[in-house]
Order: sequence, then structure tokens, then C-alpha cells
Amino acid sequence: RRKVRIHHLQQLKERGEPWPMLTSYDMYSARIFDQAGIPVLLVGDSAANNVYGYDTSLPVSVDEMLVLTRAVTRSVEHALVVADLPFGSYQASPQQAVETATRFMKEGRAHAVKLEGGRRFAPQIEALTASGIPVMAHIGFTPQHEHGLGGYRVQARGDQADQLLDDALAVQEAGAFAVVLEMVTAEAAKRVTHELRIPTVGIGAGPDTDAQVLVWTDMAGMNTGRTARFVKQYAELGKILGGAAEQFAAEVQGRTFPGPEHSFH
Ligand code: KIV
Ligand code: NA
Repeated sequence: RRKVRIHHLQQLKERGEPWPMLTSYDMYSARIFDQAGIPVLLVGDSAANNVYGYDTSLPVSVDEMLVLTRAVTRSVEHALVVADLPFGSYQASPQQAVETATRFMKEGRAHAVKLEGGRRFAPQIEALTASGIPVMAHIGFTPQHEHGLGGYRVQARGDQADQLLDDALAVQEAGAFAVVLEMVTAEAAKRVTHELRIPTVGIGAGPDTDAQVLVWTDMAGMNTGRTARFVKQYAELGKILGGAAEQFAAEVQGRTFPGPEHSFH
């Protein structure tokens, strides 16, 4: 297999073949997902919740995200790695966006960046694209705007579906190579997917988008707390890891670990 490039994702859309995307924040998950053939890995700012222990994505910093981005890009052979621009690192101006994204490309060795926002962020997307930095946009429910949007709510219901399409067309026009649609009605996502040339990546956006993304710690059951309705859990890694730790503890306490085969004489 070769390195995944943006034009491959475009070809998949044209052939009507849906593709998967997962978040990754470290070496092992990156290596495992790369080997499993996941074509696109996202170093999401959901690392705020899933690595750093914050309760929202807002507090995570560029430096915190860069450390994780470097770990993921060092660990893949084929996957295209997209890095999320954190809250506060691109909103002020197109210049701020280019400066931040340049760090992700140069220091993080990312292959593309992602930012949250529709038509109001078209100037940022244009400036990044002009600088040679591929951009994935993210519209619908955008977690960095949680406070402005009034909490976790399904977007693009009823007449708001037209606004979702306007945002999608604007980010495509500005040069985005793909767009994430988060927590929008399946009907609105289907319409946007049909109207756009570029691939749509759904999360809580129904079955008709060109690609699907999940947060890996949710889909693998590392997160044992409450998860959103749109998450499907494909494994119970949290339980498996907890069981391993309990067994290790029991064997240390019972003096059955280490055995002779683990000891030097
Ligand atoms: O940070 C993240 O995990 C994301 C995906 C849910 C798209 O932005
Ligand atoms: Na994100």
C-alpha cells in the first residue's frame, strides 16, 4: 500500500466507496489503525477529554496538541494524518491560522489540519490552502462552540438545513478538501453530501456521508463513561485493561508473579 493522499479520498467519493476515519493520539493506536488500513487518522482536540483529562475541548493548547501530533505522524506509514487546530489558535485572523497550522505541519509533521467553522471561517481556509496547507473543515455541531451553540444539540433541523448547506458550499469554495458534519440530521447530511464535490465525513450524521469518523477511545470502549447516541462500541478495551491490572495486582499480592521464567539467576 502507498501513502494515502487527498486525491485518493476524492476518488473514493467519485466511486461511491465510503471510508473510515478514527482519532489517534499516540504511537500504539496510530500504528494499529495504520496497519488495520484506516486511511485517515485525526489527532483531534478531543484529546482534551481523552488524553489530558479536561472536561471540554476548549482548554487544550497548541503545545499539548503538537506533542501528540508528532507521536502519531512518527508512527504511521500509510495513513493521512490530520491535526485539529485548538480553540483560540485560528479564530482571530487568517494570519493566526496560517501561523498555527504551519507549526502543525513543520513541528507536528501533520499532512493536513482541521478547523471548526463554516462560511465565517472561509478566509482562514483560503489563506491556509494558499499556503499549501490542506484543510478539513468541520461544521454542524462544533464542540469548540459549545457555549455559543447552547450545549450539545443536534444541528440543521428544519429550516437550519439550508444554513448547513451554505456553510458546506462556502468551505468547499474556500478550498477545503473534506468537511466533517457533526450531529446533524441524516437528511441534511445526505443533501450536503450529494451537493458537494468534496467528501463529507459524518459523526452522528446518519449513513449517507462519504466517510464516517469516531473517537477511538469511544469506539474501542476505553471510555467506560457515558457516550453519545451516535457512538458504536466495537470492543471493551477498558474492561480488558482493568482486568489485566486486577490480575497483575492479585499475582503480586499472592507472590505468583514474577515466576521462575521471569527471573534471572
Ligand atoms: O476532535 C475530534 O475528535 C473531532 C472528531 C469528532 C471529528 O473533531
Ligand atoms: Na475536534
